[in-house]
Amino acid sequence: MEYPLTPNPRPASAADLSAIHANPGFGEYLTDHMVVATWKKGEGWVDDAVVPYGPFQMNPAAAVLHYAQEVFEGMKAYRWSDGSIWTFRPEENARRFNKSAARMMLPQIPEADFITAVRRLVEVDAAWVPEPEGEKSLYIRPFMFASESFLGVRAAETVTFCVIASPVAPYFAGPKPVDIWVTDKYSRAGEGGTGEAKCGGNYAASLIAQYEGYEYGCSQVLFIEAVGKDRVEELGGMNLMLITSDGKLYTPQLSGTILDGITRKSVLQVAADLLLEPVEARLTKDFLFDKVLSGEVVEAFSCGTAAVIAPISSFKSVDGEFPLREPVGERTVALRNRLIDIQYGRTPDTHDWMVKIV
Ligand code: PLP
Ligand code: COI
Repeated sequence: MEYPLTPNPRPASAADLSAIHANPGFGEYLTDHMVVATWKKGEGWVDDAVVPYGPFQMNPAAAVLHYAQEVFEGMKAYRWSDGSIWTFRPEENARRFNKSAARMMLPQIPEADFITAVRRLVEVDAAWVPEPEGEKSLYIRPFMFASESFLGVRAAETVTFCVIASPVAPYFAGPKPVDIWVTDKYSRAGEGGTGEAKCGGNYAASLIAQYEGYEYGCSQVLFIEAVGKDRVEELGGMNLMLITSDGKLYTPQLSGTILDGITRKSVLQVAADLLLEPVEARLTKDFLFDKVLSGEVVEAFSCGTAAVIAPISSFKSVDGEFPLREPVGERTVALRNRLIDIQYGRTPDTHDWMVKIV
């Protein structure tokens, strides 16, 4: 796919862009263009293009509106101090997108075509990529949905692929660490379900728990495995990491019910560079609460593309409150700095993760 360009006749002005870049928030402003392509059963991918950003015409019977057959990705483009623009491990997003699509009976998009779509949009809307100060970046949201108008329950035979982008600051504004609500009332995913797929329904299912968390002053929810109700899994939109006083970095193992986070796997590798010992294990709620209480777990953080690395100050649940000894721990900060220094080209990219776009 080549994604030929139809330019937006009314792109944002330089003044608009500088006002947006001064305070982008997260996902509030969308760039001038978007990538679109259509998949039709028997024909494959057709009508690939970069077009002016704007609403879709959608039939009210479009299957996605009824049965939520949809998947998405989240990735970022980073402007380096020399003006060049880079993405982080885009082939991982392409691979995971297809894995999610397979789970939701959506078509595969060749990895090269996924990456070209991202590249084309970032090239065309390069002016929208913020300067690196404040860890700003361009958040890129590829997604795919069942656009066929048909009310029977089956895999759609017409599917829309789209990529949009939004200049952003990190998801959690400011350096303040976050409190996490641990719920066992609501589950996000169970074995054989869609927890490992990045599909919209998982996020819809997580909202009620997130709002329960807000009532307790928490900004994210940590979900517990649905059946045994004892294993901690991940947050609504991020993976979980714990650092112990003896230098171990614990994270819940991939169980098929949590997202295989790209930040997660990168942090595990960076940890080894910083002489922390990465441990992927089955972690129970009792382990978490006991080790935080005893001070063995000294630091905790959440990690993901949108959040980057956000320190956790406490876990709260119906069992009580479990504050971390070091709410903004030294090693959390070191890991965060190492990761963002790679992303913004401030330290050698020894893992060969960065891909230049412009
Ligand atoms: N877990 C969930 C449920 C997420 O939505 C995300 C964000 O994409 C992550 C984990 C972190 O994944 P990644 O690091 O690939 O962004
Ligand atoms: C991301 O980090 O890309 C996410 O998808 C998390 C959230 C914004 C949904």
